[in-house]
Amino acid sequence: MVVWWLAWAYLLDLAQAFCPPGCSCDDAAPSASCVGMSLNVVPILFNPGLCRLNLAHNSISSIDEAFVFLDKLQELDLSHNLLISVRTGNFKMQSGLLELRLAHNNITSFTSGAFRGLVALRTLDLNHNSLPDLPVGVLDDLPQLTVLHLAHNRLHILTQRTFRGLRGLLLLDLCDNYFRHVPTTAFEDLTSLQTLHLCRNRLTRLDPLAFPTDTLTSLTLDTNNIDSLDKRAFLRLQQLQELRLDCNTLHEVPTEALSLLVTLDFLSLSRNKIKTIGPNAFRGLGRLSTLEISRSPHLESVHPEALDGCRGLQTLTISHNPLLRHLPAGLLTSLHSLRSVDLRANGLQSFPEAEVPWSSLRKMDLRDNPLVCNCSLQWLAELLGSSNTSLAAPDLQCAAPDKLQGLYLSRYWRRQQRAKLGSGWPPDPLGAPWPPQGRPLPNRHIMAEEYVYHTPASITKVPVTKV
Ligand SMILES: *[C@@H]1O[C@H](CO)[C@@H](O)[C@H](O)[C@H]1NC(C)=O
Ligand SMILES: *[C@@H]1O[C@H](CO)[C@@H](O)[C@H](O)[C@H]1NC(C)=O
Ligand SMILES: *[C@@H]1O[C@H](CO)[C@@H](O)[C@H](O)[C@H]1NC(C)=O
Repeated sequence: MVVWWLAWAYLLDLAQAFCPPGCSCDDAAPSASCVGMSLNVVPILFNPGLCRLNLAHNSISSIDEAFVFLDKLQELDLSHNLLISVRTGNFKMQSGLLELRLAHNNITSFTSGAFRGLVALRTLDLNHNSLPDLPVGVLDDLPQLTVLHLAHNRLHILTQRTFRGLRGLLLLDLCDNYFRHVPTTAFEDLTSLQTLHLCRNRLTRLDPLAFPTDTLTSLTLDTNNIDSLDKRAFLRLQQLQELRLDCNTLHEVPTEALSLLVTLDFLSLSRNKIKTIGPNAFRGLGRLSTLEISRSPHLESVHPEALDGCRGLQTLTISHNPLLRHLPAGLLTSLHSLRSVDLRANGLQSFPEAEVPWSSLRKMDLRDNPLVCNCSLQWLAELLGSSNTSLAAPDLQCAAPDKLQGLYLSRYWRRQQRAKLGSGWPPDPLGAPWPPQGRPLPNRHIMAEEYVYHTPASITKVPVTKV
């Protein structure tokens, strides 16, 4: 050790100029980067004043005392290496470290005190490792931690007190683990938590008071097997704004559980097994502005009063539900703030003009529905064919009758105009097809999708390199 120190003292003078072979160093920052150099140990000849060190994409398998002289570090990236554990005191000198990236290693264990010394650490990234558990106490040494990434590990249980030191934690990512139950008791100590990700686990149900985290604003539960939600599951989440429940096995909208989320702004229920949406399915969600119910292969019907509880909706996506053949009268027109509605790729054959909430709507997408082009869709054809509308709506193709199949609705209208008006088309001025009688004059232009014609001349030849 003494020899070491002498050698080090000697090197200190030269240190400014030192940079291990293959690394690139910036002595002004000071920082060093040795990414993808096939290193299997941490090089030693760094500027001891180093603030940022990037050792990602190497083959480093242990740390030991590698960082004892780098006590000024603020950011350290060791991701994509071969570490299998973090041992007591590995980072004991890094009292100024703010960000530690250990993702994409093969870490299976921590010895106690593994993070000792990291009193300033804000972000700890342990994504993509092989952690089977988190021993109680190992995170106690991280009083300033605000972001903890634990996604893509093998966690299935967290005992009470696992997070007891993390009173300032704001974001916890537990996606892609093996949880069958929400580790409710472990969350009790997270008194500041705002964002919790539990996506892609194996959750099957949510018990009463599953989330004891009053401060939570965003909760991600997508891609589990949740088919039942206790009506008190979200009882404590009085500040929740964003909830993702898509890709689960819900058979109905969990109305009672959701009704407690009085501050909810965004809700996704796509990719579930919901068959019908009943009256007032979203009651209590007066602050909801965005709702997504897409890719639900079983969804057949929506009650006319389904959205009565969320009259503040601005963005509604009900798309890719092939069994949904019509929308009930009044569903949309009762939503006076609705700005954008995406009804793409449902089973809709027609869409009555009276169902459009004209006063607020700015964007509407009805593409890829099996639309029957008859007089009932005349209004839509006119709308799409007109260059004068405040509504942005991509052009639509007819699915039936056979002779009109594939025809763009906008041209259907133009074709009729031409037939009616003869070769003088387009007439000048064009008789206003829109807005309908008595509606305010539009001031913005349609954004119908452009057609692209490929003529042989427009296809440029790309030179091919012979090998
Ligand atoms: C990770 O470690 C385990 C044993 O701890 C080993 O079986 C596995 O092969 C390792 N994986 C990689 C990618 O090194
Ligand atoms: C047009 O087709 C739709 C869907 O098949 C049908 O409901 C509607 O009654 C038809 N309208 C007319 C005027 O035939
Ligand atoms: C388009 O709008 C302008 C001004 O808003 C108006 O003068 C014109 O007549 C309109 N044309 C059609 C086809 O509605």
